[in-house]
Amino acid sequence: MSAQAETYNYKVVRMFAVMSVVWGIVGMAVGVLIASQMAFPELNFGVPWLSFGRLRPLHTNAVIFAFGGCALMATSFHVVQRTSNVRLFGGRLAEWVFWGYQLVILAAAVSLPLGFTQGKEYAELEWPIDLLLAVVWVAYAVVFFGTLAKRKVSHIYVANWFFGAFIITVALLHIVNSAAIPTGWFTSYSAYAGAQDAMIQWWYGHNAVGFFLTAGFLGMMYYYVPKQAGRPVYSYRLSVVHFWALIFTYMWAGPHHLHYTALPDWTQSLGMAFSLILLAPSWGGMINGMMTLSGAWHKLRDDPILKFLVVSLSFYGMSTFEGPMMAIKSVNALSHYTDWTVGHVHSGALGWVGFVTIGSLYYLIPRMFNRESMYSTRLINLHFWIATIGVVLYITSMWVSGVVQGLMERAPSQDGYPLNTFFDFIAIRQPFYLIRILGGLMYLSGMFIMAYNVVRTMMAGTPVDAPIPELKHDVHL
Ligand code: HEM
Ligand code: HEM
Repeated sequence: MSAQAETYNYKVVRMFAVMSVVWGIVGMAVGVLIASQMAFPELNFGVPWLSFGRLRPLHTNAVIFAFGGCALMATSFHVVQRTSNVRLFGGRLAEWVFWGYQLVILAAAVSLPLGFTQGKEYAELEWPIDLLLAVVWVAYAVVFFGTLAKRKVSHIYVANWFFGAFIITVALLHIVNSAAIPTGWFTSYSAYAGAQDAMIQWWYGHNAVGFFLTAGFLGMMYYYVPKQAGRPVYSYRLSVVHFWALIFTYMWAGPHHLHYTALPDWTQSLGMAFSLILLAPSWGGMINGMMTLSGAWHKLRDDPILKFLVVSLSFYGMSTFEGPMMAIKSVNALSHYTDWTVGHVHSGALGWVGFVTIGSLYYLIPRMFNRESMYSTRLINLHFWIATIGVVLYITSMWVSGVVQGLMERAPSQDGYPLNTFFDFIAIRQPFYLIRILGGLMYLSGMFIMAYNVVRTMMAGTPVDAPIPELKHDVHL
């Protein structure tokens, strides 16, 4: 056996992990800028490529696909190797996936501010970039599933099921929703029209939430929560039920994004019903993660990494309770088109996705640099508190702003016409926008603290590819 075959491939995990922190800072800085533009429109500076309309998709793409995507690739490559007891499949293909993915991100970072867009939310990138992404994604799938195929452990650990579902489904969503007829290098028409186009877009959009922002991060949860808590998953059986129930149910809930539109009414009701059902598997998973701490709750007192992971689960529980409520048509009549949606999004995005990522990276990064722990635990603690206060400020301000806006929009005057003008409910939201800027700034500051801690950890350690331990006997669970 060659020396290389006896070690895990940590190089690519390191590269993705570090880039996740970098893109997190970039994406969230753009988030703070667009939040400020909503309070102070002068910050658009009259420059097209700095305008809100162009920077908003830059923000969503950077935080979801660059920050979240790099974290998902780092952790999935780490977890699949550790739980399969083999080195990543495909030799240098994994590194190719890294560079290909960074190229997609750079292309997005240039083309979105320039105004090139397909106009589909979370699928804005024009067709040449879409094609590149499809190729990179297939290569990612080859590395991941190739590693699983050559595993030395007969059992496939549940985290890999979640990562696997995320990889397959995102490929399917991306290829179907991005189908377009090019009319130039940076222009195209969607292959679908009218209500079908909307339906496919939100089948994509909702499952991007379900599989990109949820299933992949649940993969993280199922590996790093037990690792950091030093306890086995609370119920392995529940994790399997959780997996199948979640992936089956998510697929049908998309129409809740299109209530009261030209979509056939029965599809809207179907989407609503499946969204309500979705509460059960979501909470099953959340409870499974939480209960993994049974017997280890005392560790929460002085382990800020565990705090990040546990609080992420609370936000997961909160946003997956709120989501089904917002999917009820009469509730959606109030929440849609208001900041309530934005509050919901960020309780999932900052609280769940952000926190589980940050916690997992704090576990992962020192191990990639041959260190027992991060450079400073106190800084992790500081990061935890500043980020927690930041999320709370962000989401509570948006909830209040959203409900006020929704109520003002529907308030009729005595003669039946709307009581309030558009400007009335813009003006009343200003204080909430200021609070959101503060919350965003706090969350962003936390990311800078993290970056400092990561750099000091890297400087204190050395990059390693840990040896693969000999398996005495196969592991059956
Ligand atoms: C410092 C942190 C952040 C700030 C200040 C921030 C700010 C914003 C703002 C101002 C918007 C536009 C809202 C609107 O159009 O009314 C937005 C949209 C969005 N952000 Fe963030 N964001 C942050 C972090 C994140 C993260 C980490 C994620 C995902 C992991 C995320 C995902 C999204 C999504 C999906 C939308 C679109 C929401 C919708 O269409 O309803 N954001 N963000
Ligand atoms: C049981 C789980 C969930 C259900 C049933 C659900 C349901 C909903 C509903 C009804 C909306 C509003 C649609 C509209 O009025 O336009 C929405 C928006 C959204 N949700 Fe959730 N949600 C869930 C969990 C989550 C989680 C965990 C996240 C993030 C990690 C998330 C991210 C989003 C995003 C990004 C949007 C905004 C989409 C847009 O308009 O651009 N959701 N969700």
